[in-house]
Amino acid sequence: MATLEVRDLVVSVEGRQVLKGVSLRVSSGEVHALMGPNGSGKSTLAYTIAGRPGYTVESGVILLNGENILELEPEERALKGIFLGFQEPPPLPGVRLLSLVNAVYNKKKGLPITSQGDPLLYKKVIQALQEVGLTPVYATRELNVGFSGGEKKRVEVAQALILEPEVIVLDEPDSGLDADGVRKVAEIIDKLRKNGKALLVITHYARLFRFVEPDVVTVLSGGKVVARGGAELARRIESEGYKFLNESGG
Ligand SMILES: Nc1ncnc2c1ncn2[C@@H]1O[C@H](COP(=O)(O)OP(=O)(O)OP(=O)(O)O)[C@@H](O)[C@H]1O
Ligand SMILES: [Mg+2]
Repeated sequence: MATLEVRDLVVSVEGRQVLKGVSLRVSSGEVHALMGPNGSGKSTLAYTIAGRPGYTVESGVILLNGENILELEPEERALKGIFLGFQEPPPLPGVRLLSLVNAVYNKKKGLPITSQGDPLLYKKVIQALQEVGLTPVYATRELNVGFSGGEKKRVEVAQALILEPEVIVLDEPDSGLDADGVRKVAEIIDKLRKNGKALLVITHYARLFRFVEPDVVTVLSGGKVVARGGAELARRIESEGYKFLNESGG
């Protein structure tokens, strides 16, 4: 059972306050959707959870199972079971998905990271790639080098399937995906939830939620939480945009 809780988080980037007191919580077996206009601070929250340098926490805490993780390095957070799927996965020349996940597995087991991997891992990687609709070639191609936009997003989701982290933050896993891709990613999110993972899913589109009903929807605007509700909130945003939130006073 894992719970990630963000409490009154104030974060600045390059000297500018981007998050102005954000609170949310996600627990095992839940899909928490995070929506909001461009520039509202969604990715900033994701990066801050993952511990990316440059994101200065001025106040507030991030708790994993009640323990403050703000002092931990990104790698330590990952080893504690926090995974971030990037909005724009960077190309990693020389790194291959198979060797990357092998290194993570070794690290978790306390083995030298270049140790020869478990042969079952290859099977697991191939199976995850298949689930996201990619051929085995993507296990050994240089990661994200020359990948199409949709291929990058699919590989991010495949990593979540392979590494089985307890808390999964996906930053726009559906952006740039074709219709089959959106359905596949939604089905995987649902499967991970059923497997007891805690998922924080950032998206602009309620279309993702046609196949996976979120438990909670939080809307961020201007670095603050301006609305919280169920799946109906996501559908209303899709049909009306964010205007109604201003009208109702946020
Ligand atoms: N490194 C940075 N330097 C300067 N400003 C930044 C930096 N990172 C984020 N910001 C600013 O913080 C604000 C929030 O950005 P963020 O990427 O969190 O938005 P977002 O909600 O993820 O938007 P989108 O839906 O477009 O992905 C933006 O105005 C952005 O320009
Ligand atoms: Mg973003």
